[in-house]
Amino acid sequence: MKALIASMWLVLGSAQAAPVAMDDQSQLTVTPASVAPQFVPPAETTIPDNAFGKMVREGHALFVDTRRLMPDAVGNGMNCSNCHLDQGRMAHSAPLWGAYPMYPAYRKKNDKVNTFAERIQGCFQFSMNGRPPAADSQQMTALSVYAYWLSTQAPTGVEIAGRGYPEVAQPAAGYDFKRGEQVYREQCAICHGSQGEGQKVAGEYVMPPLWGRDSYNWGAGMHRINTAASFIKYNMPLGKPGSLSDQQAWDVAAWINRHERPQDPRLVDGSIEKTRVKFHAKDGVNLYGQKVDGVLLGQGTEG
Ligand code: HEC
Ligand code: HEC
Repeated sequence: MKALIASMWLVLGSAQAAPVAMDDQSQLTVTPASVAPQFVPPAETTIPDNAFGKMVREGHALFVDTRRLMPDAVGNGMNCSNCHLDQGRMAHSAPLWGAYPMYPAYRKKNDKVNTFAERIQGCFQFSMNGRPPAADSQQMTALSVYAYWLSTQAPTGVEIAGRGYPEVAQPAAGYDFKRGEQVYREQCAICHGSQGEGQKVAGEYVMPPLWGRDSYNWGAGMHRINTAASFIKYNMPLGKPGSLSDQQAWDVAAWINRHERPQDPRLVDGSIEKTRVKFHAKDGVNLYGQKVDGVLLGQGTEG
């Protein structure tokens, strides 16, 4: 009887959502952008024509076409490559070759050694607003194989220039929503839509959304104004990276992140305030659980 109850618990347990593998997307401290990246990942034409090469190709496909190929794991309209540009190759765009050689990594925050698979699971949970595949699944293996191959000849355990999104210091005057809205209208809306909704062709996103139910959720690293400013400064407007001033990058990042998006999956007791205190109060610069123009942010887009 005892054994029966135990096995019932196991079944129940596994039917529930997998626990959050990486409990946050806490910020990296990376080499500043003033140090020119030297690393060059291998060309696609050099992928070997064998079983290993097949996995590299599969991982690449999952990385750039995530939403379509992994509908069970993705809960929004995003692909990995929307935030890790040029198929995870671009320096200052959190390239996979800057990441792979740095794992496993000890993090004081959860007092645990985190594997590369767990790091990817974090992006599924928050950036993709989804349910991460198991660490030993074929899809997770393929994504790791793609990252490993891109890192060919990179040193392991050595911070490499070009990793992550370089920090953009907060301007002395802070940030301003009105100015951010203007930058958005003039330089971003043409692609991302006047309501941050992105653009679809035949039901598929060709320009990713920046807020709303198909965007990254309130637990994602990109919800921090400082992280979004860093990404934007070095990657946007598409094709014109580095063209915005630090002030413009902060202003427009604040404008984007003052809009609703899916709820933080770590929501504590259904309470925005408890979630703010536990997960957002010390997580960079962000607006979760704060009032802007009299409206409480962090309500989520569900329902
Ligand atoms: C909405 C944007 C977004 C999407 C989509 C996204 N990520 Fe990320 N990713 C981030 C941010 C932000 C970080 C943290 C960077 C930092 O702290 O500077 C990150 C970090 C990472 C890292 C660790 C980087 C390092 O140098 O340690 C890996 C690996 C990664 N993401 C893989 C993925 C994969 C695989 C997917 C798709 C399943 C994905 N990401 C989707 C924004 C995104
Ligand atoms: C020419 C079209 C274009 C313009 C203009 C543009 N973007 Fe993007 N943006 C894209 C595309 C395309 C991606 C996804 C990149 C990919 O998949 O390779 C993207 C990705 C992003 C992302 C990360 C993915 C997401 O949806 O959250 C953010 C944030 C972003 N852009 C912000 C901005 C901001 C802010 C501006 C204006 C300063 C801007 N973009 C201007 C095309 C554009």
